[in-house]
Amino acid sequence: MKVLLISSSPRREESQTFLLAKEVLRGLCEQGVKTEAIHLAEHHIDFCRHCEECHKKILRCSVKDSILLILNKMLEADAIILASPSYINQVTASMKALFDRSSHFIHCKRLLGKYIVGVVSSGSGEDKEVLDYIKYYANTCGAQYSGGVSSCAYAVRERMDDAYQLGKKLNQDIKEKIVFPDQMKIIDAGKEHFKRIIQLRKEDWKEEYQYWQDKGWI
Ligand SMILES: Cc1cc2nc3c(=O)[nH]c(=O)nc-3n(C[C@H](O)[C@H](O)[C@H](O)COP(=O)(O)O)c2cc1C
Repeated sequence: MKVLLISSSPRREESQTFLLAKEVLRGLCEQGVKTEAIHLAEHHIDFCRHCEECHKKILRCSVKDSILLILNKMLEADAIILASPSYINQVTASMKALFDRSSHFIHCKRLLGKYIVGVVSSGSGEDKEVLDYIKYYANTCGAQYSGGVSSCAYAVRERMDDAYQLGKKLNQDIKEKIVFPDQMKIIDAGKEHFKRIIQLRKEDWKEEYQYWQDKGWI
């Protein structure tokens, strides 16, 4: 079992969000789970150019940067912790660039069977919209959202135990293959939507269409 933490604060190790996310990792590590942490600030991820190369050829991109390295790590993980400070009530632009560059995951529901956890910190402590967006991203890629933890930057230490408990819960969810029926309904509806789109675009998006065929979904 492997869990990947992707942290998007430019402050890296000094980040309050990362401080909280590390407690989620501690909850996992104590139960023997292998973990890896990535700071997006140590990678270059350009903006999506909507060239559709990634839909024509799976895990190909015309922009040559760190994206494929990170997407492959996400595919190898059983669960992903997405940690972002709130920037204007959203994930950071670096995290959003990663989301945009992973649209193949959405077309082919590549994170099905995986779990995602959200970690957010902010100046105000009003983090719900950011956590909701991370949950939206998880479901749209086919993953289930195991839960989130957030904190005002000035009170992170008060939320450390919640973060630690979330790590333990994530381990249980993965081990027991927990199903959240309300989220599976959303994931299935998203799949039905893309079934139509993939069929419509099958001449252009040849490898994604092939992926759907290989899965027996079309
Ligand atoms: C560009 C920018 C935008 C921000 N926008 C918000 C915001 O909309 N709401 C909020 O509560 N805090 C906002 N903050 C404060 C950060 O979310 C807060 O300081 C956070 O804890 C920083 O996390 P870090 O230490 O992990 O980088 C913003 C900070 C920056 C630099």
